[in-house]
Amino acid sequence: MDSLNGEYMKCVCGKRPLDIVMSHILKIMMEEGIVPETATLRRNSPVPLSGFYYSGLNPQFIGEESLILLHPDFTGEVASRLMNEVPEVKCVLKGNPQITAGQLDKTSDICHFEILEGDDTQINLMRTLLGDKIVIVKKQSKHHIEVAVTTEDKLVRLHNYLNNNDIKKRTAIDGMCGLGALGIYLLKYGFEKVIFNDVNPEMIDALKYNLEINDILDGYEIYNCPFEDLEVDNVNLCVIDPFPNVDVDGIVKKAEEIADNVVII
Ligand SMILES: C[S@@+](CC[C@H](N)C(=O)[O-])C[C@H]1O[C@@H](n2cnc3c(N)ncnc32)[C@H](O)[C@@H]1O
Repeated sequence: MDSLNGEYMKCVCGKRPLDIVMSHILKIMMEEGIVPETATLRRNSPVPLSGFYYSGLNPQFIGEESLILLHPDFTGEVASRLMNEVPEVKCVLKGNPQITAGQLDKTSDICHFEILEGDDTQINLMRTLLGDKIVIVKKQSKHHIEVAVTTEDKLVRLHNYLNNNDIKKRTAIDGMCGLGALGIYLLKYGFEKVIFNDVNPEMIDALKYNLEINDILDGYEIYNCPFEDLEVDNVNLCVIDPFPNVDVDGIVKKAEEIADNVVII
């Protein structure tokens, strides 16, 4: 255990295997008494979120300042030790991973995880079936946890839906747009106009940033309201991407009223 420090098992490239990094983190959590001495990687590890994801590369070796950690029992002292002693850690968040950061539905409050130390920016560079990449930047303390491969999978499903259905490419809505990946994809796919909407104003801030860094300068409108209250019509396609286990009856009804085609991703 004593040899498990920031140099242990480091490759000449400066990276270490992910399981060694997680063992190092768990060792510090044990020493600080926030997990029992019998803790195991499977049961007691904090949620590790990569600060940078590049599609197609899922490294088992990770470099300095590349991990964002989330655990409900982290304290200021543990966070300082993790940041100072584990070179791969770039941010430590306190919070319950079972809770969704952001806003679950139109009646819920906006939830955040607490940043104890570091920078919670996560950058995802995702490949698409159009050959183009989409960059999505999020702040992991206030934006939902959705690993990049899940977003990529949604983009593939959307692509297949569009290829298999004859939909006019005039106007589309990304009705619960979050960070904007689906709507950005619709613009890249060739829609003349995409309406982005999200109930959470913090998502709209992130969306604007993501539009800019993807070089999307026009062809869109942005709304910040519950989808159920959106006042638009004559839409060719409405894309709905709700959080799991949220009642979407009202949202689907509204989508069917305003759009010729509705897809729930
Ligand atoms: C699963 S996330 C969407 C993820 C998104 N496709 C992305 O790429 O980030 C669900 C989103 O729905 C939004 N939302 C929840 N209820 C809503 C409502 N009634 N109207 C509009 N947006 C809503 C949340 O704020 C959240 O951003």
